[in-house]
Amino acid sequence: MPTQQAQVAVDKPALSPKHSSPPRRGGRVEELELQLDRLRARMRIAVVYGGDKSADGSVIHQTRNPRSWKSYKAVAEDIAGALERLGFQHVILVPDDMRLATALAEENIHLAWLNTGGVQGYNPMSHAPAMLEMLGIPYVGHDPLIAGTLDNKHIFKQELLYLGIPTAPFITWHPARGPFRPKVNSRFLQTFKDHWGPYIVKPVSGRASLHVHYVENECDLPETVERVYEATENHVLIETYLAGREYCVGVGGMVVSKNRKMARRRDPFVFAEIERAIGPDEKIFTSMDVKPITSDRVMVLDDKKDEIVLEQLHDLARKVAVEMNLESLVRLDLRSDSNGRLFVLEANPKPDLKQPCEKSTSLICTTLPKIGMDYEDLILSVLADRIDLLLSQRRGSVSHLMALLD
Ligand SMILES: Nc1ncnc2c1ncn2[C@@H]1O[C@H](COP(=O)(O)OP(=O)(O)OP(=O)(O)O)[C@@H](O)[C@H]1O
Ligand SMILES: [Mg+2]
Repeated sequence: MPTQQAQVAVDKPALSPKHSSPPRRGGRVEELELQLDRLRARMRIAVVYGGDKSADGSVIHQTRNPRSWKSYKAVAEDIAGALERLGFQHVILVPDDMRLATALAEENIHLAWLNTGGVQGYNPMSHAPAMLEMLGIPYVGHDPLIAGTLDNKHIFKQELLYLGIPTAPFITWHPARGPFRPKVNSRFLQTFKDHWGPYIVKPVSGRASLHVHYVENECDLPETVERVYEATENHVLIETYLAGREYCVGVGGMVVSKNRKMARRRDPFVFAEIERAIGPDEKIFTSMDVKPITSDRVMVLDDKKDEIVLEQLHDLARKVAVEMNLESLVRLDLRSDSNGRLFVLEANPKPDLKQPCEKSTSLICTTLPKIGMDYEDLILSVLADRIDLLLSQRRGSVSHLMALLD
């Protein structure tokens, strides 16, 4: 698929000055490599995937899933396989459910890798990190507050507004407030002004384009809001439709492995800058549950031709990571309007880390060959960055990990 010149307007004032942060961790990277070598033989790791609420003994009472459920077990297996190939000798898979604490205790787990979107209930992305905070088990993933903030599109968008980062104008609605009547709703009129469509209506917490609707004009909004509410029993997000191109960018921590050689950067690691290939009649990127991510659905951005959009993606990704104090990987999804102005759609706190294979890949892995990394380097980078953070900033909370280094 040919990469066309990205038509993105330069929006310097909103994106400058550049946000780079001072190094948050000192010390030689060789020391971290030695620590990792020790941990390879001794540290017991559990990769946690989403437990099934209908399985015996997983929950006390089954409830709803406002966020569409998925086990993510296949990707947990990819992550565990990479950890084993990297030399970690004790790696197990554990479902996220009410037996998680017992399983971690019985298996004498030192660190968990959270590849779960939860089991059921509201804000499920923050359940596992909250439980692990309580249990005293360190983990790869975002803390409960950040996980919940990133996974609630309306809350994340409020953060973006606060940071001055462009995002489409939006409101939320909950039918408990009564029927949604755009023409007389003061918040709607104030937010959208003279924009009378098209709109996007979507769940505040969702995945894989599920229950995301394109709505031509305001007359169809009430019915669509009702449909999304019925599917999710949660607040519904209404925002302006952005008619331009769609992009993604990944941003991780300061420690990066290339060819298994570790480096500690001065700023967050920005990578996986891609454009999603969207067909002429494809208003909404087709769910990966329906069409897997194949190479023809993703275009790697070109350093020269796409220089302007690449610079914008880097600025935005760094700004989000630094200003929100992110401590683990995210993937930002963005889209431009018909004038080429770029807007952040959402952040994915647990981006798909599927290992690329012949048939399909994950958005995050698409640019790895271009930057001299393979899947194991990516997994090692995410893990090493977390170990580095724990051993430098959370020493009081990880004495059991420090004991493994003796
Ligand atoms: N404001 C918008 N304007 C145009 N298209 C949009 C807008 N919001 C969402 N979309 C389309 O819907 C898709 C899914 O939306 P979004 O990324 O917000 O939610 P998601 O279902 O959590 O996505 P993901 O598959 O990345 O987890 C986007 O990839 C995009 O194609
Ligand atoms: Mg998305």
